[in-house]
Amino acid sequence: MTRPERARSFGAAADDYDRLRPAPVPAALRWLLPSTDVTVLDLGAGTGLVSRSLAATGVADVVAVEPDDAMRAVLAGRSPGARVLAGTAEDIPLPDASVDAVLASSAWHWFDPERATPEIARVLRPGGVLGLMWSFADPTTDWVAELRHIQRADDKDSTSGVRAGFTIDLPDGAPFGSGSSEVFRRRTWMAADDVAAMLGTYSTVLTLSADERAAVQEQAREVIARRVGTDPVRVPFATAVWRAFRL
Ligand SMILES: C[S@@+](CC[C@H](N)C(=O)[O-])C[C@H]1O[C@@H](n2cnc3c(N)ncnc32)[C@H](O)[C@@H]1O
Repeated sequence: MTRPERARSFGAAADDYDRLRPAPVPAALRWLLPSTDVTVLDLGAGTGLVSRSLAATGVADVVAVEPDDAMRAVLAGRSPGARVLAGTAEDIPLPDASVDAVLASSAWHWFDPERATPEIARVLRPGGVLGLMWSFADPTTDWVAELRHIQRADDKDSTSGVRAGFTIDLPDGAPFGSGSSEVFRRRTWMAADDVAAMLGTYSTVLTLSADERAAVQEQAREVIARRVGTDPVRVPFATAVWRAFRL
């Protein structure tokens, strides 16, 4: 399975994705956007988890750009506050200097940074923020680490190993100041079956055969029963965020 094929794999599970994947920890959005009187581009918006969180915090104008038709259909249906557009990070359907913030959640690793970075710089107003974030079940908890092994997690696809202080290298000459990062955490109750099903929304599992996907879920249920032993399960989540400002 090539990376472009994996990048396009999410639509097959769009409903489960929207129901099961973690939205960002609210404090992460506040760290990126101290003011709500802004226009924000949610790039690679998927089913709209971030767009809806932004609308809920009162952000004035949310534009969501997403290339996958199935993901975008869920996004448009469930995020009435957002302007929803088809497009990619490498070809953003917005005018120059038209947004105050570009946020990419669990999506930057699917972009071509050499082409996406100048596009992001083009649509951002000077002083605007680029915020890259990843939300994930926190593998510093042992049983979550065991689930990540079953999920065949690819650390290139998430910063799930990161601690505060991690860095993102933009291409040389990108018109951004130096970056800074933070990790925010929270805990959420989830049904054990939903935790197992959440693994099926990651590209490493989505691109397996149906039998292999079923085996992953079965193994996950076994780990949760053995290691956690409760249903519902209190799941530790983290959002890792990196930000830099447009010069
Ligand atoms: C893991 S999902 C993240 C979705 C959403 N941002 C979230 O936090 O739930 C990755 C998303 O990036 C989209 N994507 C993949 N390649 C992209 C590209 N080159 N430009 C923009 N979006 C892309 C996929 O279609 C998918 O919806």
